[in-house]
This record gives sequence, C-alpha cells and structure tokens, in this order.
Amino acid sequence: KPYVEFMKKNYPPGFTYEDFAPLFSAEFFDANQWAEILQASGAKYVVLTSKHHEGFTMWGSKYSWNWNAVDVGPARDLVGELAEAVRKKKDLRFGLYHSLFEWFNPLFLEDASNSFKTSKFPTMKTLPELYEIVSKYQPEVLWSDGDGNAPDAYWNSTGFLAWLYSESPVRKTVVTNDRWGRNCICKHGGYYTCSDRYNPGHLLNHKWENCMTIDKRSWGYRRNAVFSDYLTIEELVQTLVETVSCGGNLLMNIGPTHDGRISIIFEERLRQMGQWLNVNGEAIYKTKAWKAQNDTVTPGVWYTARPEEAAVYAIFLHWPTTGYLTLGEPSASAGTSKVTLIGYSDPLKWLSLGSKGMVVILPQLTLSQLPCQWGWALRLTGIN
Ligand SMILES: *[C@@H]1O[C@H](CO)[C@@H](O)[C@H](O)[C@H]1NC(C)=O
Ligand SMILES: *[C@@H]1O[C@H](CO)[C@@H](O)[C@H](O)[C@H]1NC(C)=O
Repeated sequence: KPYVEFMKKNYPPGFTYEDFAPLFSAEFFDANQWAEILQASGAKYVVLTSKHHEGFTMWGSKYSWNWNAVDVGPARDLVGELAEAVRKKKDLRFGLYHSLFEWFNPLFLEDASNSFKTSKFPTMKTLPELYEIVSKYQPEVLWSDGDGNAPDAYWNSTGFLAWLYSESPVRKTVVTNDRWGRNCICKHGGYYTCSDRYNPGHLLNHKWENCMTIDKRSWGYRRNAVFSDYLTIEELVQTLVETVSCGGNLLMNIGPTHDGRISIIFEERLRQMGQWLNVNGEAIYKTKAWKAQNDTVTPGVWYTARPEEAAVYAIFLHWPTTGYLTLGEPSASAGTSKVTLIGYSDPLKWLSLGSKGMVVILPQLTLSQLPCQWGWALRLTGIN
C-alpha cells in the first residue's frame, strides 16, 4: 500500500514498472572505479546481478528484446564492462547472479497456470539466456536464484549443470550455489545458501555462503535509507568472522544507484572491510573451520585454523578491560605453545589453565599502536 500511494503521489497516472527503464541511466558508471573499490574491500570474488526477477538484463540479451541495458536506459553492456574491469584485478574472480523465473513474463505465467507441465519459458527464455551469459562472460560463480516454485526438472537444471561442469568454457573453475528448483536449496548445490542472510552459528558439513546486505532492509539502493539502516563496520566484521568460523563465505551486497554509482557509505564500508582484512586476512583467507567455532568461556571469540601450519586463530571482537583474554577451548603447553597478536610484533605471554584452557595477557597498546579497531586475531601455535 505505501508504495502504491507513493507512485500515485509522485508519478504521472498510468506510469508502469517498464516506464522506469529509460530512467535507469548509469551515466556515472565506471567499471574500473568499481573494480578498484571491490578489490580494496578484500573480496576475492564479485557477483553482479545480471538479471533480477523483473527480467531486465544488464547485458544486451538476444532473448530479452527491448528489456535490457543496451536497448533501453544506459545503452551499454554493463555486464561486459564489469567483467573486463574485474578480470584485470589480481585475485578477483567474476561471477553472475541470474534469476530463473520472472515475475511478469507471460510465458512463465502460462507455464505456471499449467502447473509447470509445459515449459515454454525455460526453453525460450531462461536456458538460452543462461547459455548466453556463460558463453559470453564466462562467470566463475554462477549464482542462481528465483525458482518460481517450479521443480528443477521444469528448469532442466541438471541438464544445464551437466553442460556447465563438463563442456562450458568455465568447466574447470566454475562454482554454483543451491537455488536450481523447488526444494534444492540447502540440499543440492556446489555450495549452500539456505536462506538470505543465513548465518547458522554452527559448522555445516557442506561449503556454504552467507549472502547478506549492508543496508539491513534492502538488496537494492534506497534513496530514503537512513544512517541506522546500514550495518556498522563492527557488525560487518562480526558477521564475517562468525561466517568464516562456521565454514562459510561472506557475500556482502551493495545496491548501486540508477546513475551507476556505488554510494559513499557503501564505499566506506567496503574499504573498511579491506583495511581489516589487510591486517587480519591470514585468519580468514584459505582457513578451515577448527574443532570449536566459538569460545565456550568468553563470548565473541571465534576460531579458524590453518591445519597445514598447525595454527589456530582466535578472533576476538571486544578488547577486554582486564587486559587478559580467557580462552576455554585451546589448551597450551609450556615450551611448545606460542601466541602472537596479528599486526603486533612481540609474542604474548600466557598462562595455562590445564584442561580448562588458557589465559592470554594482551599488550597495553595506545590507540595508534592497535593493529586495527574492529576486532583482533591471535595466532596460536603448538597447542593441543
Ligand atoms: C536439458 O539440457 C540438456 C543439456 O544441455 C539437453 O541435452 C536437453 O535436451 C535439455 N532438455 C530439455 C527438455 O530441454
Ligand atoms: C557460540 O555461538 C553460538 C551461536 O551464535 C551462541 O549461541 C553461543 O552463545 C556462543 N557461545 C558463547 C560462549 O558465546
């Protein structure tokens, strides 16, 4: 209702959703600038929404006549521009989000009214389009969404995925998620997403991803968002740490503007995340989940591990006022155990509590000596 009222009040009578397309201008879109910000965030992969549920394609799809960013609005191949810019960045992979179904497409609505016994829409739209984006842009992450409550057989998902993994140009590196038909989610997939903003707080026995948004209420850009709608960097670091400790990856969404910008608040959050990862990346990248995910004694302590280096990381989100940190999970032994604070050179002193864990004495640092401000990581070696 509030949206209907808003439209009535601010737009000409009879203004339709399609009438928004020419207003999508992207005149400030600079793919190289985006790629620079995305790399500065510490991200290792980027997933662009190539098409959301309304069917508008961000590339000049042959199967989306007059409803794509080349024919209407920007008159540019936005997918191609970003793909090229991202690929120029070291260690940054390019991926695409793609919605299987479309809210208003008459072919989909017809199939739905036939209880998906006909498959005009997948045959004439979704599948040709999927082959098109994979062949043309070679995404190394294919993030499927929007099953439209239709089974995977309707979408021919297994047929398409067989092609993707064994014949497509990205067959050697591509990864996909779990949204390929009704009841697939959290059950089948290269990695699981389970639900939007999924953050289970415990280890899963399958690789997963927490896809969430910096604007707590939206995946798209909201002109009327207020400051408190955005997650703080402390909250984002906490989400990253919880996610990675439980074996997940973080996919942190930003909604760009109609004129092609990453708003400054998103840019700040992305760069802050990058600053934090620049110091603490060794406790995040290429780590594995440890035997415990968080501490049993001190809240807000999360663990990761690098088994090949026999290293365990205890990431703590609150600097204790006592100056020491009690860890209930690792047990240390004199002579062999070593504790360091990432970003600080001297080894730390610690005391063993036997089977009850250990106490780490934190150094007394001034603000400018702190390696970072939003969470810290201890590297523990030689522990049991
Ligand atoms: C499903 O995909 C496979 C692999 O591309 C293809 O051989 C098959 O014909 C497709 N089936 C339908 C019903 O479209
Ligand atoms: C460990 O994390 C879980 C899930 O977030 C939480 O329920 C539990 O209270 C945490 N344990 C401690 C000691 O903080």
